[in-house]
Amino acid sequence: MNRIEAIYSLIDDKDKVVDVGCDQAKLSLLLAKRNQPSIASDISENVINKAKNDIKNDLIDLRVSNGLSNIKEGEADTLVLAGMGTHTILEIINNTKLRFKKIITISNNYHDILREKMNAFNYIVDKELIVKENNKYYNLIVFKEGKTKYSRKEILLGLNHIEKELYNEYLNHLLKKYNKIKLSSEDNNPKIDEMIRMLGDVI
Ligand SMILES: C[S@@+](CC[C@H](N)C(=O)[O-])C[C@H]1O[C@@H](n2cnc3c(N)ncnc32)[C@H](O)[C@@H]1O
Repeated sequence: MNRIEAIYSLIDDKDKVVDVGCDQAKLSLLLAKRNQPSIASDISENVINKAKNDIKNDLIDLRVSNGLSNIKEGEADTLVLAGMGTHTILEIINNTKLRFKKIITISNNYHDILREKMNAFNYIVDKELIVKENNKYYNLIVFKEGKTKYSRKEILLGLNHIEKELYNEYLNHLLKKYNKIKLSSEDNNPKIDEMIRMLGDVI
């Protein structure tokens, strides 16, 4: 299962989806195949013009939009933010008054900060899934509305993984990665040490 298929598998056919940062609108194309309408938006006018040229499908509403600025109340209840960094994702959430029953993210970095700050916006982790595409791991996180108190382990390593085998493989990959960073760096980095300790405890 690739990243887009993984996101697709977590969307119900009644969900009203907006895919922000849609690029080629691959997710919307999959949804349209099962007759599900969706909004596919991107900050780039070029991206949307190209998609409008390539895709002729009435079920796909292509829009230029910086984050959720061109999405109106009631148009969507499920938000997809994939292929961007945690800071962009948080900025998009911070800049909107819209609320969502489900937010599916695949951030490129800082998943600990994402879990922590989303909690501050009253969104908690519902479930997580590790996806492997072209030998690279992606940490998909589904958020739902709520507020919680996470343990440090949950903040750093995630929680509620729906597929354990790939998650364990991912943890081993992380341990190797952080050990390599530690070996190649002359300075002491407390966060790297904490990750190595935490990973050592769970593997
Ligand atoms: C790497 S692509 C990811 C495409 C697709 N979502 C995926 O996961 O394969 C990131 C896309 O996000 C768009 N983007 C970046 N910042 C954005 C923002 N603030 N609002 C909307 N789109 C944004 C970029 O123009 C780009 O098309």
